Amino acid sequence: MSDTYSDLYSDNIKQIKASAIREICKLIARPEIISLAGGWPDPHTFPVTEANKIINDLLDHNWKYVLQYSTSEGLPEFRFYLSQWVKTHEQIDVSPDNILLTAGSTQGMDLAGKTLLNPDDVVCVGLPTYFVGAFTIYGAREEGIPVDCDGMQIDILAEKLQSLKKQNRLVKLVYIQPNFQNPTGATLTIERRKRLLQLADEFNFLIVEDNPYGDLLYEGERLPSLKSLDQNQRVIYLRSFSKVFSPGIRLAWVAAEKQIIRKMVIAKQFIDACSNNLSQYIMFEYFKRGFLESQIKKNITYYKSKRDFMLTTLDKYVPGEIHWNRPRGGFVSFVTLPHHMDAEEILYKAVEQNVAFVAGRPFFIDNSGQNTMRLSFAQSTEPEIDTAIKILGGLLQTEIDRNK
Ligand SMILES: Cc1ncc(COP(=O)(O)O)c(C=O)c1O
Repeated sequence: MSDTYSDLYSDNIKQIKASAIREICKLIARPEIISLAGGWPDPHTFPVTEANKIINDLLDHNWKYVLQYSTSEGLPEFRFYLSQWVKTHEQIDVSPDNILLTAGSTQGMDLAGKTLLNPDDVVCVGLPTYFVGAFTIYGAREEGIPVDCDGMQIDILAEKLQSLKKQNRLVKLVYIQPNFQNPTGATLTIERRKRLLQLADEFNFLIVEDNPYGDLLYEGERLPSLKSLDQNQRVIYLRSFSKVFSPGIRLAWVAAEKQIIRKMVIAKQFIDACSNNLSQYIMFEYFKRGFLESQIKKNITYYKSKRDFMLTTLDKYVPGEIHWNRPRGGFVSFVTLPHHMDAEEILYKAVEQNVAFVAGRPFFIDNSGQNTMRLSFAQSTEPEIDTAIKILGGLLQTEIDRNK
């Protein structure tokens, strides 16, 4: 369809495609669909009773403040609290000046791009990765670095950095999710974490560390964040409340070097003046009343059981030629089909039978990954997961038989 305004749009917006994942979510928003697609939290985990009480208390006693603007950096007392909290819980040594409240980590990503990128700067991202396109909107070029079951392959990143240097191309950022990466569920090993930080010093780039799922660890040891290992202020750390409280609150925080935070604050002033003040007060109270710790524990038990259930049903129903990983945390497992198979074709057939997932290709900036799919266990119930994987297994078997 031709667009009446096409002459008036910016070049930046013209070259950006809509998020394929969000578009799929729109297409499958029918009640009869069992969705393994969206990486959304299960609403049953939302802390409704606690939130209700906190909101009422805030509006009864503190309405003059909570319904007011806040500073662009975020509520000073909350930033102070977070700086103490992250010291105790994650061994990250920051002061309130290192912290900025944002409208979700999505805004943190955008602010990082806005603050740091010029057209043609290079950003290295996982192949596959979440947030495809977040940096190209600023004219940056994304380079894909393959991800295996231990996360981004840092030796390949090192080679890429060398070859880009030879071409005089400036790598400004590496975007990475070390814990239970979306979409692969992979966890970056400690050796790779340390090597990545060394490379950042050697090649003078910054790292955007996105850690929305870090609290949801179901097995194995908790690895230190890049930020906690970051001796030379290379890391911009994004920490979202979406997966442990609720995404609707649209609140997250960034921890980074003070000067970078300052620039991000200036950029933010023109976007929304300040993050949602009511949300900040709610979250702050939620922390202070000690609810967060128990919420995280509850969520771990809840989602671990769903993860285990989905892995069992995959074993039960899905043919042996197909492989998937066992994520140590987070919301998703990643499935690799034989090379000749096309996950998008399977998706259309699955939707006809009221089952949805995300075909992997939109996560690959080089348009590969046609034989991959992301399955989220977060939102559906166990009987729904059983039905969905059974249908999927049947479709995959038919496809395999057809190609024999
Ligand atoms: C890896 C990753 N980063 C960021 C986000 C968005 O987080 P927020 O709701 O804080 O914007 C998501 C949401 O699914 C995600 O998977």
